[in-house]
Amino acid sequence: MRNPSYVTKLDELLQGGFIRPSSILIAGSCGTGKTNLCVQSLFNAARNGEECAYISMLSEPRNKILRTLSSFTFYDEELIKEKVKILSISTDVVAKGDFSIFEYLNENILKHKPSRVVIDTINILEDIESTFEERPLYRCELRGFVQNLLQEFDEKNILLMATGEIPASDLKKSLWPYMFDTVIELDMENDADETHRYLQIIKERGSSFVMGKHRFYITRNGITF
Ligand SMILES: Nc1ncnc2c1ncn2[C@@H]1O[C@H](COP(=O)(O)OP(=O)(O)OP(=O)(O)O)[C@@H](O)[C@H]1O
Ligand SMILES: [Mg+2]
Repeated sequence: MRNPSYVTKLDELLQGGFIRPSSILIAGSCGTGKTNLCVQSLFNAARNGEECAYISMLSEPRNKILRTLSSFTFYDEELIKEKVKILSISTDVVAKGDFSIFEYLNENILKHKPSRVVIDTINILEDIESTFEERPLYRCELRGFVQNLLQEFDEKNILLMATGEIPASDLKKSLWPYMFDTVIELDMENDADETHRYLQIIKERGSSFVMGKHRFYITRNGITF
């Protein structure tokens, strides 16, 4: 089943929107528009009746998250009350280890089976420690943990969008893109006197899509092409 991304041209590039359930990684360096793309999709989905959740992994205070969101025209306070759950994982939860993060996500998100969830940003999981030993997770353990987590979202029929602090030049070396069904890269490039924003779909498992770099803009209405 396809659910619209609610980012107009992106739905065309994806030939109808995101596949649900599936996991989507929005990758790029800082300021490329990852959070914007995700919250635009989330709020428009909520306006169309979907139950949604946004989870900040950066321990950001709720009012700061809301202040940033409210600069966009798609933001709606009523949706926050009824359709969009806003969560912020504290550093304490992350510090307690992989089990603690799973418990938190299970209690606060998975149990409620929302249809669309944003995790902003997934890289924080690189900092988690083993629940049983005081050491960071080995790469293979992290991969196993994330794969199980993505599987849980999939079984609950959730469309999961996660942002990844991964510059375009590092994407192939990173472990993250290999774990997600769809990868969308956001980038900024400078020419003589201007900076341009680009979006590129890198992969979508089980589907074709329109390849190439597509220039976009960020305005108060969110991402437009
Ligand atoms: N209301 C707005 N109107 C126009 N442009 C905006 C607005 N809000 C944000 N922007 C632009 O979006 C950019 C940041 O987008 P966003 O926060 O989505 O990036 P990001 O990739 O999530 O960054 P980070 O990695 O730092 O979290 C800002 O630098 C700004 O140029
Ligand atoms: Mg962001």
